Amino acid sequence: MTFLEYLENINSFGTVEESKVYISKNFFDIQYSYYSSSFENLESQTLQINEIFLDILEKGTLSEPCILTNAFIELLADYFELFKCVGSLRQIENKIDENSNLKKRIKASQLFLRVNDATTEYLSRFDEIIGLLKEAQEDGDISYKSTITFINYYYTSVSSFIRLNRNDLLAEFVSKINNIKSKYAFLTESIIEQLLQIPYANFRFDFTVFYNNISIFIKSKLEKGVYSDDLSPEISDYTDKLNEIEEKNFVNIRNLSVTYLMNLSSTKKNLLKDRLDNGLKIIDDVDLLYAYFFSFGKMHYSKVYEGINKLKQEIEGRNVALFDWGCGQALASMVFFEFIQKNKLKVNVDNLTLIEPSELALKRGIAHINCIYPQIKNSIKPICKGLDSVDNKDLINNSQIKLHLFSNIIDVPFFDLNRLCHKIKELKGENLFLCVSPVLSETGRKIRLRKFSDFFAENFETKNISETINTKKENKWKSNNCPCVNSKSNHTNDSHICYNAWTRHEIIFKTIIT
Ligand SMILES: C[S@@+](CC[C@H](N)C(=O)[O-])C[C@H]1O[C@@H](n2cnc3c(N)ncnc32)[C@H](O)[C@@H]1O
Repeated sequence: MTFLEYLENINSFGTVEESKVYISKNFFDIQYSYYSSSFENLESQTLQINEIFLDILEKGTLSEPCILTNAFIELLADYFELFKCVGSLRQIENKIDENSNLKKRIKASQLFLRVNDATTEYLSRFDEIIGLLKEAQEDGDISYKSTITFINYYYTSVSSFIRLNRNDLLAEFVSKINNIKSKYAFLTESIIEQLLQIPYANFRFDFTVFYNNISIFIKSKLEKGVYSDDLSPEISDYTDKLNEIEEKNFVNIRNLSVTYLMNLSSTKKNLLKDRLDNGLKIIDDVDLLYAYFFSFGKMHYSKVYEGINKLKQEIEGRNVALFDWGCGQALASMVFFEFIQKNKLKVNVDNLTLIEPSELALKRGIAHINCIYPQIKNSIKPICKGLDSVDNKDLINNSQIKLHLFSNIIDVPFFDLNRLCHKIKELKGENLFLCVSPVLSETGRKIRLRKFSDFFAENFETKNISETINTKKENKWKSNNCPCVNSKSNHTNDSHICYNAWTRHEIIFKTIIT
């Protein structure tokens, strides 16, 4: 179904309640249909989508927003921003939390969509617009969203300068961009280079042609994968160093990345960190492997270690098939193997399935596991695919228990959550789920963890083992790496915000799939 068809359905119900239930039931499919539609398709429907949106708004469907209607509002805001529907964008601006990333991007877009004097304001607001886009991205927004807002800014400004016949303003604008483009991750995407190469002679037309690249660009974020069945572990200087480590544990392995990063300039380090896109990037550059392990290794270690500790009674003495979904460099599996060794658990791991679309990360992941737990070497099944492309026949299912590690992946909005649930429900028998993610402000991502666990609770016999939410303010997590963790008064005081603290949303449960 198309994005427009979903909106028509929402609008077709007799009561607000029915529409809300429909949004709740179908939100992930709606989100997926939006992200996978072509730009031309979406653009051709702006008139109808605006009209339906106003209808929906008038009926009150989006008042008293709950978590899923909020997520739906965020999705609509993305659409209106992308297609410059200023009126609708303003209507929903009022419905958005003041501190959200989305609010920052909408503020940025208002700055270039509503100008009185085109000869001064596009240029004088440049720093403010870029600053807001950077802030939105740093606060956890996905960087391609800032990239798209920037493309809209470029198009609006350049068309005006051309219309006014002001080559001087155009040159100043382009020079400002060239001065900063290597400093911000959202400007280092290759689509920005393509944008800057559009000739000015027939700008509007050429821009329309270029704009088709947007859907290719977004789709490339949704899923990448090299569908390789025969994936060998990495062999490199890095793996030589792995072999040289005397005590092969997580900390010592991470230290290789710490040392690597220490030898880079701070500008290069910062840029790499930005390019990681808050960890969502499907890694395609070796430097980013180091930057990822350095930036996220400690946090993921703590989250997964504490999670496995809560599962030890369930797995002791059993035969387990381990699945590490969206595994990256297999950090979660490394922690698992370190935990069972350190705690001398008698767990027989029959096989380990590593699923990850980045070939570089997956190959390094295999090398990490071979280093930390060589006994499993011949029973690793690497699947170099995005989650949407994983086939049920890829998944091995003949152990007593299936243990699923979802370390910081369920919140990733680039795959279809419903499709994933339906795949897992084919793994009959006892299934344990360890799901950890950060606490996010972007509603569309935040609700995915709960939706995922609800699916199993609603359909099968399910035991909730643990659910924890630790923010920077409330119920602070004691392993949150916060510099003031020892100051008891701050950590028990819910009005004190620890800005540097890690956040955690953890859901651990057991399901018998029949
Ligand atoms: C925050 S990282 C988590 C990685 C790993 N689980 C860990 O704990 O370090 C998110 C991961 O999702 C992967 N990813 C992005 N899109 C994906 C998709 N469509 N399907 C599966 N994984 C995806 C990225 O390549 C990245 O490795």
